[in-house]
Amino acid sequence: MTDRPQIAPANGKLGVLTPGMGAVSTTFIAGVLAARKGDALPIGSLTQMSHIRLGKRTDQRNPLIKDFVPLAGLDDLEFGGWDPYSDDAYTSAMKAGVLDPRHLEGIGEELRSVKPYPAVFSENWVKNLGGVDQVKEGANYMDLAERLMEDIDRFRSDKMVDRLVMVWCGSTEAYRDLSEAHVDIDAFVKGLKESDPAITPSQIYAYAALRMGVPFANGAPNLTVDFPAMVQLAAEEGIPIAGKDFKTGQTLMKTMVAPGLKARMLGIRGWFSTNILGNRDGEVLDDPESFRSKEVSKLGVLEQILQPEVYPELYGDLYHKVRINYYPPKGDDKEGWDSIDIFGWLGYPMQIKIDFLCKDSILAAPIVLDLALFMDLAARAGRSGVQEWLSFYFKSPQHGRGLYPENDLFIQHTKLKNNLRHMMGEELITHLGTEYYEEM
Ligand SMILES: NC(=O)c1ccc[n+]([C@@H]2O[C@H](COP(=O)([O-])OP(=O)(O)OC[C@H]3O[C@@H](n4cnc5c(N)ncnc54)[C@H](O)[C@@H]3O)[C@@H](O)[C@H]2O)c1
Repeated sequence: MTDRPQIAPANGKLGVLTPGMGAVSTTFIAGVLAARKGDALPIGSLTQMSHIRLGKRTDQRNPLIKDFVPLAGLDDLEFGGWDPYSDDAYTSAMKAGVLDPRHLEGIGEELRSVKPYPAVFSENWVKNLGGVDQVKEGANYMDLAERLMEDIDRFRSDKMVDRLVMVWCGSTEAYRDLSEAHVDIDAFVKGLKESDPAITPSQIYAYAALRMGVPFANGAPNLTVDFPAMVQLAAEEGIPIAGKDFKTGQTLMKTMVAPGLKARMLGIRGWFSTNILGNRDGEVLDDPESFRSKEVSKLGVLEQILQPEVYPELYGDLYHKVRINYYPPKGDDKEGWDSIDIFGWLGYPMQIKIDFLCKDSILAAPIVLDLALFMDLAARAGRSGVQEWLSFYFKSPQHGRGLYPENDLFIQHTKLKNNLRHMMGEELITHLGTEYYEEM
């Protein structure tokens, strides 16, 4: 055991606020409610299902993560959020069509009680959403941020929660480069007061959260907390932030397969990825500007894992293409199809085809749960700023200035578990292995 930092206990209730109460958010809430009742297992969640090895392999210490680190329990969670549609979580879940009505009926009453607050929303940033019926109005963006802070306060007292976390589950915003308003917190505050058109709704939520001391994780590719002003604010307020873009279907596969091919020094000439999906997210991503945000977050992954500058013979000529096609008949059942052209010994070509018929929100829901619980843990452990140890959950992990992101799923997994060991004062596991033989 080493010295361990103080971690405040997880006493009382934890409020989980999601801007965006569509498919992912309602699948997450419904899943937690069902798991609480013992009706279903929270499969895919490390905080609920994973064990963690402590000490030597011969020590036989392998507790569940939730028994090892002090996490909020599922029974202690309260749910809330914002959406420009006034549907409660039950109606929204029915419309999203991810979960069978038979799964929703048993928890219908609790789901109906989760009603989104009116959203800070603009069609300039998210197109293809028609008929929105509850959008906040304000004199300027700072006014809107203050309205969000009032909602946070109201939620805190209505639900009697002790702590809060916010996880962005809203639609993907249009891609824009950063502007003058993003360079530091003074410029950003000025931008809010002047309703600078370069500031997006998700950034207004993030500002409100950090000002209220609420950790913020971003599940979409928007630059929500990934710019200097917000990093500065998180540091000044001492609040954890993390992002971007939940790592689910195709990128999950990519960050499993690419490290394996690279570990064996196999070359890759081309990687063509296409997605067919028919949910509301797919409809939003049908807009080229929202797609551009997604494309940027999806494309960086291979380049970082494969290091073409270090291995030009193997990956220097890689052609990487990503497509997303909105195809309504698929609903939330996405088809992620990868055609990979690889080469081996003496350059002989081979092919790999992956056809992942996945359920997007089923893969994303446990990520929302884990992020909520781990961000709360990070705050109680006194961590602030970018939580790189949570890269495991993101397609495009946010990272410190001057660092490259870590995309390899297996390195991310080791990083996450070693951070938990470190927090609890346990030895880190290096997998060196010589100690077993020295003792013999
Ligand atoms: N499902 C996945 O596997 C997955 C993976 C990675 C990222 N994501 C991202 O997660 C987000 C949610 O995905 P989803 O499938 O639930 O989409 P969805 O369309 O079902 O839900 C998004 C909700 O956000 C709402 N919204 C839009 N702008 C908002 C705003 N300014 N404030 C509050 N609410 C707002 C929409 O009305 C909608 O109800 C998307 O950005 C998506 O790209 C999803």
